[in-house]
Order: sequence, then structure tokens, then C-alpha cells
Amino acid sequence: MNNQNLNTNNVYFVTGVAGFIGFYLSRRLLEQGCKVIGIDNVNDYYDVKLKHTRLEGLEPYENFTFVKADISDKSVIDDLFAQYRPNVVVNLAAQAGVRYSIENPDVYMQSNVIGFYNILEACRHYPVDHLIYASSSSVYGANKKVPFEETDFVDHPVSLYASTKKTNELMAHTYSHLYKIPATGLRFFTVYGPMGRPDMAYFGFTDKYFKGEPIKIFNNGDFENDLYRDFTYIADIVEGIVKLIPRTPIGAVQHEVFNIGNNNPEKLMHFITSLEKALSNALGKEVNFDKVFEPIKPGDVPRTFASTERLYQAVGFKPETTIEEGLQQFADWYVQYYNLLEKEEVAGN
Ligand SMILES: NC(=O)c1ccc[n+]([C@@H]2O[C@H](COP(=O)([O-])OP(=O)(O)OC[C@H]3O[C@@H](n4cnc5c(N)ncnc54)[C@H](O)[C@@H]3O)[C@@H](O)[C@H]2O)c1
Repeated sequence: MNNQNLNTNNVYFVTGVAGFIGFYLSRRLLEQGCKVIGIDNVNDYYDVKLKHTRLEGLEPYENFTFVKADISDKSVIDDLFAQYRPNVVVNLAAQAGVRYSIENPDVYMQSNVIGFYNILEACRHYPVDHLIYASSSSVYGANKKVPFEETDFVDHPVSLYASTKKTNELMAHTYSHLYKIPATGLRFFTVYGPMGRPDMAYFGFTDKYFKGEPIKIFNNGDFENDLYRDFTYIADIVEGIVKLIPRTPIGAVQHEVFNIGNNNPEKLMHFITSLEKALSNALGKEVNFDKVFEPIKPGDVPRTFASTERLYQAVGFKPETTIEEGLQQFADWYVQYYNLLEKEEVAGN
């Protein structure tokens, strides 16, 4: 089933469906006529209203079924697999965020390790054609060799979040080896876009600007040695996943890992200037953030830089959306979603 189109007779089981990536992936699958069973516990790690807005965007599709459930509940996941017998599973449900894993480690073990174990067990008992799961660029830790390649050494994670993602890769490898579950792990690189995650820097900076507060930039104020991030636009992430779904790994152990990143790291300061420009365009007035520089935070890494060679070789696609284009989409959405043009007019009266 290599490099074919999506099979619309399949049942797609997407966890984390109320989340940023889960929503866009599910919408794309539904638009193509696929049947999607979407799972999410709709937790309040960030604004639940945004999660409900995303779910409202999926509800009109006839082929969509939403189940509010927690993947760390083994019997519920088992029952859902027995009931729906999915052909393709995409596990995106997880506790995300590097910094929050220092504050609240328990939830990372619960959702990312136990939750993923339950998904693997369910795939073992109710065989699937393909299990795709989210890993993260954070598995590369503070690696110096760039770009980061899938064959690089990734045994030195610098946050518990990264450890759980590397753990997922090991668990998937073992289950694939033991029970012949075709599995693909995806190392996403800083995903951004409209309806993105409010805990991420670009979203938080924008919130602060509209609250009239300064933004904190954790790069030591050192622009010569600025942080670099490989930012990936959401549509490119979805395209990568959709292209990989029909491509089951081959070989004795049917498990493979892919980077999905932009292969084009940006200086953090350039990203921030581009966000100011995008917001200026969206609002029709000059936007300049009030900036405070602070030391790099524990668990943060100095740079991320994806090699996209393996992805390109496999499916002939690599992300190419520029941050200027992507941030403009985000800024336009943000201003519209929070009714900011109207509020600016009222304030100006
Ligand atoms: N966005 C990024 O930059 C990025 C980068 C690397 C990896 N990832 C990974 O990609 C996946 C999706 O990320 P996202 O940005 O869409 O995050 P998100 O937080 O927006 O989405 C995750 C969703 O999973 C749900 N969830 C969490 N724990 C759950 C549980 N135990 N049971 C059921 N649902 C649960 C949450 O309610 C949320 O809606 C995650 O695994 C994340 O770690 C994301």
C-alpha cells in the first residue's frame, strides 16, 4: 500500500482530535470522504473554548464520530477498538509542552506513556493496517550536528516531555517487532498556524501584545547566538501525515521514524519581527512588541533543524511554507477569532 491515495473505506481512529494537529488532520480526512472516530479528553491545559471551536468545525461532517475519552483508560480504549475496528490509528493525544513537564510530570507519564501503551495494546489485540504516532523534535535534545537526521543519536533528552516521546518510539519499535504492527513515528518540529496552541510562544506573544504587556524572550538577549527553531506550518504537517498514512513501513521490523520539519531554521528574533509584521498587516497599524530578554529556560534547546531527506525520499514531499506566509494566516485568524478589529474601532471612537 505504498504511495497510494487514502482509502476512504477505512476507519481512521484519531486521538487528540480536539487538539491543534488532530483537528486539522481530521478535517482533511473528512473532506476526502474518510470515516473518522475522534477521541479527546478535552483537558484544560489550555483554553477549552478553542478545543470546542475545533470540534464544532468537525461536527457537520456526517462521517465524524466524537468520543470524549481518556487514552490512559485501558478498558475504554479496548472497547472503542472492539466497537469501531479501526484500520488506521493516528495517535496525537499527549500532554505537550517542554516547560510544563517540569511543573507537572505526572500527567506526561499518564497520557504519553500509559496512554500510548494502551493504544499499542489495542493495536495488538485488534490488528490495524497502520499506526501513526506523534513523536517530537525534542528527542534530539541539545544535539549539535545539524540538520537533525533520523539516524542521529537521540539518547540524551533534556526534558521529561522528550523522554516520553523517545519512550514512545522504543515502545512502538518493540510492539512492531513482536506483534507485526506497521508503525510510523513522526518527529514534528515546532508546529504553528491558525487555531494553534495558546501555550506556544508565537500565540503567547500575541496575547501579551493585546493585553498591553511586555513579552519575555528566553534567548539571553544575545542576538549573535540567538535560538534557532525550525518552524513548520500546520498545513505542511497535515500534508506530511496524509502522504505517510498509505505508506506502511516495510522490513523485518515494520517501524520507521520521520522528521516533519521545515529544513530551514529561523532565528527567534526574525520570527518575532515577522510576527509583528503579520499583526501590523492584519490590524492595519504598526505593531511593535515591548520586549524583555531573559536567560534560556531549563529543558529548552538552543536550536532545532530538521533534515527532510528521509520524508522526501519516502513520499516526494517536504514542508515549504515560509514563516511570512504562515504567520500571516495565524495573525489574520487571531484578529478575526477574538474580534480585535471591532474592539480597536470601539477603542478609537
Ligand atoms: N505542536 C507542536 O509543535 C508539536 C511538536 C512536536 C510534537 N507534537 C506532538 O503532536 C501531538 C499533537 O500536538 P498538538 O500541538 O496538536 O497538541 P494539543 O495539545 O493541541 O493536542 C493534544 C490533544 O490531546 C488531548 N489529550 C491530551 N491527553 C489526553 C488523554 N490522556 N486522553 C485523550 N486526549 C488527550 C488534549 O485535550 C488535546 O486536545 C502531541 O503528541 C504533541 O506532543 C506537537
